[in-house]
Amino acid sequence: MKNTLLGGLTPQQFLRDYWQKKPLLIRQAVPGFKGLLGPQALIDLACRDDVQARLVTNQRGKWALRHEPFEPQDFDGLSKKGKWTVLVQGVNHFLPQATELIQRFDFIPHARLDDLMVSYAPKGGGVGPHFDAYDVFLLQGHGHRRWQISTQADQTLIEGAPLRILKDFRVEQEWVLEPGDMLYLPPHCAHNGIAEDDCMTYSIGFRTPWYQELAEQFLVYLQDRIQIEGTYADPGLTLQKHPSEIGPAMLQQVGEAIHKVRWDDEDVANFLGCYLSEPKPHIFFDAPARPLSAARFAEAVQKHGVVLDLKTQMLCHGNTLFINGDAEPVAKASYRVLRELADARRLAAGSALSDEAMGLLYSWYQDGYLAPDTRRRKI
Ligand code: SIN
Ligand code: CO
Repeated sequence: MKNTLLGGLTPQQFLRDYWQKKPLLIRQAVPGFKGLLGPQALIDLACRDDVQARLVTNQRGKWALRHEPFEPQDFDGLSKKGKWTVLVQGVNHFLPQATELIQRFDFIPHARLDDLMVSYAPKGGGVGPHFDAYDVFLLQGHGHRRWQISTQADQTLIEGAPLRILKDFRVEQEWVLEPGDMLYLPPHCAHNGIAEDDCMTYSIGFRTPWYQELAEQFLVYLQDRIQIEGTYADPGLTLQKHPSEIGPAMLQQVGEAIHKVRWDDEDVANFLGCYLSEPKPHIFFDAPARPLSAARFAEAVQKHGVVLDLKTQMLCHGNTLFINGDAEPVAKASYRVLRELADARRLAAGSALSDEAMGLLYSWYQDGYLAPDTRRRKI
C-alpha cells in the first residue's frame, strides 16, 4: 500500500529534504481522517484537572488567553462574544487512537516527541500569526482550516499581547486544508491558522529543547551524582593585608576541586533518558487497585502480551531502559526485548522474557506504567 502520510515520500526522503528545513503540504495524508473526538469531548477533556488546556479569544481584535482549570460553563455562549479556540495538550494520554495516530510518526525518534495537541474553533477562530520552537505536523480533522505561512526572518512580536503574535506577518503561501490533509512546519516558520468553519486540528509536536534548559537540567542531574573527596585546607596560610579579599591560594585550591567534576557520554545519555522520559508535572499514574500476584501477572503477560499506559514515556540507550524519569540498567537479553516494548508500546503474547525482564514489567505494572494487553484489538 502506498504510504500516504508523507505524500508518497519515503521517510528517508522526507528527513533529507524537509525535516527541519522547509514546510510540506500533504493532501490526504490520512485518507478518510475525520478526527478522533468531537468538540464537546474536547471541551470535556479541557475541564479535567489532569489536563493542560488553553482558551484563546479574540473580541473585536483584542486577544485574551486563559489556561486551565476550566469549568464547562467557561465555554457557554463564547461565540456570541467573538472568535475563540480551545487547545488541549496531551490528548494521546487519554485516547488510545491518539497514541496510535502518533505512532504513525515513528520515523522520528521518540526522544523528540512532545505530544498530540488538539484544537477546536468555530468559524473565524485561531491563535493568530506566530511561530513555534517546534517541529509540527498539523493534521486537519473535522472541518476546514486556512493555513497561511511565511519564512520571514522578522519575528518581532506584538508587545504586551497575552500571547505571542507576530507584529508584521507577511503571508507567502496559503492553503485551505480539508479533513485528512496535513501541513508539516519546521521550527520558526511563521504560520496562521484560521477556522473556515467548525474546525478541529491535530498537532503532532516535536520538541527542540533550548541548550540552556538542557544544560541547567544536566547540572541538576549531576548534583546527585558527583563525589569530590576532601575539604578545604590551608596549613600554609600567610597573612593577608585585606582580610575581606578572596586570596589567590583559595581561588586556586577551590578551582582545582571544581575541575574534578567530570562526566562522560554515559552520564549525558542517562540524563537525556531520565529527563526526556520524565512525565510533565500534572501527570499521575494510577496503580492497579487490586494488583495481580507476580505469578498471575506473568501468566497474563504470556497470554495477552503487555501494553504501556497511554501516559508512559519509555526510551532506551546502551543497556538502560528509561521509563517515566527512572533508569534501569539491564542485561543484554532483557534490553533487547524491553526495547521492543519501548519501540512499539506493546509486547506480543508469548514473548521470551528473562526473569529480570518479567520482574521489571511487574514492578512497572505495580506503578501503573503498563498492564497486560487484554484490550480487544482490531487487526
Ligand atoms: C491550532 O490548532 O489552532 C493552532 C496550532 C498552531 O498554530 O500551532
Ligand atoms: Co503554532
